[in-house]
Amino acid sequence: MKYIIGNWKMNQNAKIIDNFIKSFKKNKVNNVKFGLAVPYVYIEKIKKKLGKTCLVGAENCSEYSSGAYTGEVSAEMLADFNIDFCLVGHSERRTIFAETDEQINEKIKQLIKNKITPLFCIGETLKEYENKETKKVIKKQIEKGLKGINASELNNLIIAYEPVWAIGTGKTADAKTINNITEYIKNLLLKMYGENSKSIKVLYGGSVNSENASNLLTDLVDGALVGGASLNAEKFINIGRNV
Ligand code: PGA
Repeated sequence: MKYIIGNWKMNQNAKIIDNFIKSFKKNKVNNVKFGLAVPYVYIEKIKKKLGKTCLVGAENCSEYSSGAYTGEVSAEMLADFNIDFCLVGHSERRTIFAETDEQINEKIKQLIKNKITPLFCIGETLKEYENKETKKVIKKQIEKGLKGINASELNNLIIAYEPVWAIGTGKTADAKTINNITEYIKNLLLKMYGENSKSIKVLYGGSVNSENASNLLTDLVDGALVGGASLNAEKFINIGRNV
């Protein structure tokens, strides 16, 4: 079964979401687990309307437990809404908001403490890709992001391999590369966590749509993290239908 997880980023509004919910509910796709990472303010609404058919997650959380951090939302608060997962370390957070591997590690620890599945995003920049540093970069991101987290704490961890140069650009890594990198990530996790690592899902993200999904998601790849093509219910559902 493949996971098809949408990431709405800072898009949609209440009216668009109502229409999305109506179309999404009409469709049934077997053998696919859909999920949506949505802005905090819409979590409750989406959870109520789609919670049975779709995993519902947040796009970020604070690295702190509580306190004087104006504008932040803690993992404990998110747990109050029974969210199924939370994105962490998305490349837009790393680049635009200068999030470091150390902060990402703290966020993952907060999520685990609050029994929320972290959907941990990793991936190389275009420069790193051109310098053939992909494996080196993602190894560092994984080791630093998961530092201090032991095998019994993985809490259904999901990893999304998203080359930064493929996000929102219409360019994707090719199927062979995605397969190779997924294999590399799974082997690395096996070395770190032994048999427990087998519960970790590894997704691909970066310009996935209903046309390219079946080609990009080989057997080894557990699913996709989808930005742009998750904003429209039909397009999103079609990805699930085609994989
Ligand atoms: P995209 O975004 O599908 O629009 O490339 C993917 C993501 O940001 O997770």
